[in-house]
Amino acid sequence: MKNYILPDEWKIIEEGFNPELNMISESLFSLGNGRMGQRANFEEAYSGQTLPGNYVAGVYYPDKTRVGWWKNGYPEYFAKVLNAANWIGINIVLGDEQLDLALADVKAFRRELNMKEGYLKRTFLASTPQGKEVSVETIRFCSLADDATGAIKYTITPLNYSGPITITPYVDGDVVNKDSNYDEKFWDEVSKENWADGGYVQLRTRKTGFEVATGQKYHLSAGGMSVSVNKQLIEKDKYIATALTLQTVAGQPITITKFAANISSLNYDSQALKEVLISTLNSISAKGFDQMLAEQAAAWDKKWQHNDIIIEGDTSAQQGIRFNIFQLNQTYTGEDDRLNIGPKGFTGEKYGGSTYWDTEAYCVPFYLATADQKVTRNLLLYRYKQLGKAIENAKLLGFNNGAALYPMVTMDGTECHNEWEITFEEIHRNGAIAHAIFDYVRYTGDEQYLTDFGLEVLIAIARFWAQRVNWSSDKAQYVMLGVTGPNEYENNVNNNWYTSKLATWCLQYTLTVAAKVKAEHSEVYAALATKIGLDEQAEFAKFRDIIAKMYYPKDEKLGIFLQQDGYLDKEQILVNDLPAGDRPLNQKWSWDRILRSCFIKQADVLQGLYFFEYNYDIDTLRRNYDFYEPRTVHESSLSPCVHAVIAAKLGDEARAYEFYLRTSRLDLDDYNNDTEDGCHITSMAGTWLAVVQGFGGMRVKDDKLYFNPFLPAKWGSFSFHIGFRGNLLNIKVGKEGVRIKNLSGNEITVTIYNKDQKVTSDTEILVEAR
Ligand code: BGC
Repeated sequence: MKNYILPDEWKIIEEGFNPELNMISESLFSLGNGRMGQRANFEEAYSGQTLPGNYVAGVYYPDKTRVGWWKNGYPEYFAKVLNAANWIGINIVLGDEQLDLALADVKAFRRELNMKEGYLKRTFLASTPQGKEVSVETIRFCSLADDATGAIKYTITPLNYSGPITITPYVDGDVVNKDSNYDEKFWDEVSKENWADGGYVQLRTRKTGFEVATGQKYHLSAGGMSVSVNKQLIEKDKYIATALTLQTVAGQPITITKFAANISSLNYDSQALKEVLISTLNSISAKGFDQMLAEQAAAWDKKWQHNDIIIEGDTSAQQGIRFNIFQLNQTYTGEDDRLNIGPKGFTGEKYGGSTYWDTEAYCVPFYLATADQKVTRNLLLYRYKQLGKAIENAKLLGFNNGAALYPMVTMDGTECHNEWEITFEEIHRNGAIAHAIFDYVRYTGDEQYLTDFGLEVLIAIARFWAQRVNWSSDKAQYVMLGVTGPNEYENNVNNNWYTSKLATWCLQYTLTVAAKVKAEHSEVYAALATKIGLDEQAEFAKFRDIIAKMYYPKDEKLGIFLQQDGYLDKEQILVNDLPAGDRPLNQKWSWDRILRSCFIKQADVLQGLYFFEYNYDIDTLRRNYDFYEPRTVHESSLSPCVHAVIAAKLGDEARAYEFYLRTSRLDLDDYNNDTEDGCHITSMAGTWLAVVQGFGGMRVKDDKLYFNPFLPAKWGSFSFHIGFRGNLLNIKVGKEGVRIKNLSGNEITVTIYNKDQKVTSDTEILVEAR
């Protein structure tokens, strides 16, 4: 665990130059706008440790899988989010010396990520090996207001040096991925040009054929005035630059403002990319840096008005939650139903930028409450559009009749995981996709979605479950063999309780939705039945039979659901009894030992109880929590948040808070020693869940919001915003009680501590503390 980020309510701050922490900071100070993003690499050259990272959403490479024994059904490739052209580059040469902080004596250094206004600022004072002292201030951002664009204002002041300085803004597409199976380069050049005040490079990805035109325009001034310079245009493979040489005078600041844009073939015809790029660059450079920055602040202000969480009395918790909300909004804005949320967002290469069940299980509730419902709808439509491929995927594995198995890892609907033994059998992700439809409709009331899109997905998923179970004549029940639950520290187990529960829940939900659509939109229903060849009687009878006769492992003596058959045969040791040096297990123990142990990577039975809490009484919840929690090592970032919500429900406020802290500052404090790979974006939604569903006790039931809040002992108060069916509410939990403000929308009735409360429009009510 590290502790170098300075406390601040709205900023992430690093003070002092720590090259050994640079890769972590590059992740933490990342920027993004949903369409593109980048790690916090330096603009000027840096020969120290760095992971260059510029990413364009939806642009990936299918890197052929490396495997010893090829098995049927193995995915052809593992999709990689591509390290794309670097548009932030500005080389600085003082006389004949390149400015490089790895070689310089850095006397002062500060990085600030301003989350309120959405920009990154870096200042430093450094002395080159020849003793030239400079101070630099640089501000940059990826524009939320115009998501193809970004800008940088880089000011350098030579403090004790007068003489020539060469400033070289460039676009470099000759980049590689750190994570690549065959060390290939992924981009080819299509075209490039250098102009009097900028230039561009257009690149095409190998195999996938995506094209991206990345360009720059720049403006140079000294002491606020335009300056005359000597220009040298430079072109190399996939690279354009202009070296601008001028004479400096000690003490006089020189500013280069760089406007950049990424235009991709995802949105425009390849032939049109250059033209669109030029007009985009012209328009932003005419607008100017200050105006762009003002628009950026306004766009972020709009976001924060809807999704800020304010914690009084605990700066570190405040910084943590805002960081999580900020990163989630940088990663996904919901504008485009072809895009999704990679577990590392735009902050690193790990997990390939692909879509996991994380989106449906963790991120959906966050976006439902904090953004327009269109945002979540687009996440659902992403899966709807990939239904054909999910059916194809199931077919490859031997299923038929339109059964769909959504991929565990995907870019375009094709399965592209790279961990055969683990993720292949994690079929529970199919259930999470169905559950997200349920979550969306429960939250928004948009039942039309079920008729238009949802039912088709549900039936295909239900068909998969109906074929995936088998009848055990020994048990005279249906069983589900050979699966991996969310706990990836068990592979290929029989009757994972969570997966089996989710499967029958899917079957039941499908039947309920089918009956509803049939009753309310009989023509649409009939058309769908024809389209998918539904034999309603036989198929639905099978669904019902499975629901009625499914086997779920449990232990009567302990009164708990069993994670899987045979779980109690394992030697039962508790995490607290493990020597500290043995953890994390995945770095210290052999895989064989992990698989044989009782230790649980992340919520599994508890994940099921979290989803379906309303079906269980509090004692059942407690018994299972008391049993599984002490065996859970939380070696997935997705784990502590689920435990936080359940602990809160059980009234274990101290443990709920402990879990919250672990998730909220996971990256800021580098808990798992892996932030340098990128931030854990999807689990950041879990942090939000810990506050809103955990401390706030928020649930949605029967078209209504319920709250059952408590105030963590260390906090003076906390408040959050919830958008719900046309209302924007602010819920503030303080020492005196719960205040609910109806910021917009008609009168609404919410239930607080089991009592209905009416909140008329534009007013606030106070419900006294329990
Ligand atoms: C977790 C999975 C998760 C993946 C991506 C793994 O460590 O076990 O549940 O989908 O990370 O976040």
